[in-house]
Amino acid sequence: MQHGKVTCLEHCLYVSYYSYLVCRRLGFDYRSAARGGLLHDFFLYDWHKDKPYKGLHGLKHPYVALENANKYFRLNKLEKDIISKHMWPLTFPFPRYWESLIVNFMDKCCAFKETFSIGRGRSIIRLQSLLSI
Ligand SMILES: [Fe+2]
Ligand SMILES: [Fe+2]
Repeated sequence: MQHGKVTCLEHCLYVSYYSYLVCRRLGFDYRSAARGGLLHDFFLYDWHKDKPYKGLHGLKHPYVALENANKYFRLNKLEKDIISKHMWPLTFPFPRYWESLIVNFMDKCCAFKETFSIGRGRSIIRLQSLLSI
């Protein structure tokens, strides 16, 4: 589980999809935004229970996600920036690209919606129909 009753996969799908929509509308690199959004929380453990490191999840998991994403996928510099800086301003430095800022903002919006269960049913049904799952 990621936030509330939303799984990490669902959260990443939401962040990816909304980042894709905004970046496409604004003429930015929507493909990298979608890929970065999909992989931004690719840390592969339950942060509520066990972590493979000491310290705060919020500060460390972007780098764990980047390491995992680098292991399984070929990332461009924009996707690396999106993943490693999605927790700004909790982490530094500042996101370098517009796409990184947009994914960062969509992550905050989705986390807020998920934590407080705002529009959960509608979002899931819409995403499922879009992804045909
Ligand atoms: Fe995250
Ligand atoms: Fe996230």
